Amino acid sequence: MTAPPLRWGVIAPGGIARAMATALNAVTQQRIAAVASRSLDRAQAFATEFGADTAYGSYAALVADASVDVVYIASPHSEHREHALLALSAGKPVLMEKAFTRNAAEAQEVVDVARAGGLFLMEAMWARFLPHYDVVRQCVQGGLLGSIDTVFADHGQPLYPDGPQRLSDPALAGGALLDLGIYPLSFASMVLGGLASVTAVGELTTEGVDAQEAMTARGTNGGLGVLHATMLARTAARASVVGTAGRLDIDGSFYQPNPVRYTARDRSAGPVFEPASRKHGLAYEAAEVARCITEGRTESPLMPLDETVAIMATMDDIRRQLGVVYPGEHPGGPA
Ligand SMILES: NC(=O)c1ccc[n+]([C@@H]2O[C@H](COP(=O)([O-])OP(=O)(O)OC[C@H]3O[C@@H](n4cnc5c(N)ncnc54)[C@H](OP(=O)(O)O)[C@@H]3O)[C@@H](O)[C@H]2O)c1
Repeated sequence: MTAPPLRWGVIAPGGIARAMATALNAVTQQRIAAVASRSLDRAQAFATEFGADTAYGSYAALVADASVDVVYIASPHSEHREHALLALSAGKPVLMEKAFTRNAAEAQEVVDVARAGGLFLMEAMWARFLPHYDVVRQCVQGGLLGSIDTVFADHGQPLYPDGPQRLSDPALAGGALLDLGIYPLSFASMVLGGLASVTAVGELTTEGVDAQEAMTARGTNGGLGVLHATMLARTAARASVVGTAGRLDIDGSFYQPNPVRYTARDRSAGPVFEPASRKHGLAYEAAEVARCITEGRTESPLMPLDETVAIMATMDDIRRQLGVVYPGEHPGGPA
């Protein structure tokens, strides 16, 4: 609520854009200035529901709107590169939904364009900005856990075969990895100072995208990640960070606002962090964007662009091991 207010332009008013608009209106001073859909009717319906000033029937029209301070891109993964380049070439700062792009080559291209233009850009890995992730970071960096040995993290939701088409369609860069697996990978990357290498086994759908994967990773600063994602079933979605001096367990879905519990090496129970609110978690990343842009920053220290590109490269590696290729990937992608 204390973050400086910006005027947001929303590209692609689908499911997550609705959740973001709900959070912005409920618990921030951010203003939804404009919304753009491929259909003017859909844009107008969204504008009416969330109080946006202007509705556009094309994304190009929105990025040309001088009253928009920052563009939020909420289209499917396959479209992110094109939509980010559209906004950046119009001189707009960008918050782009995860997964950032289809592959690392596309991610690097978008990052290079933002840096060349001196424009803010950030991956909307919203969990990074939640208070309990901050607690995890402080415990790790402050040495409370000793030396970090292992990060366990899992994310499973029953999104296939009955879920949204974008998850089953290779042309939309579907599959569990880019949608769900990115959460455990990003969490492990944050705790282990990056991921130096990864091995993976998985199962593919009849359409040729990954239904689930079990992944093991080696951290850049040492330590291992034991990670899993599936779109076939609802898992407990738990995460633990295990160090020589103690352990942190996130109670409940690890990527949503939930308590963090400390257990010492001798099994004694330590303090439990309770989030003040479990609602509207997307507001924290929006507040980070507003603070960074107002301070003249071009990226967030909590979700650095080089780390975003590195996580895309890790996912390229996993897809190579699983045999998942999206049609029409940018040259330099995992194909
Ligand atoms: N942060 C989170 O918790 C979270 C949760 C879910 C999803 N996401 C991410 O958000 C993004 C969108 O996911 P979603 O679940 O909101 O998807 P969605 O409900 O399908 O909405 C995506 C929107 O993109 C637009 N679009 C543009 N080009 C498209 C194309 N070629 N095919 C289909 N739609 C196209 C459509 O809007 P118009 O046609 O009206 O323009 C569509 O409504 C993904 O990157 C996903 O990983 C994040």
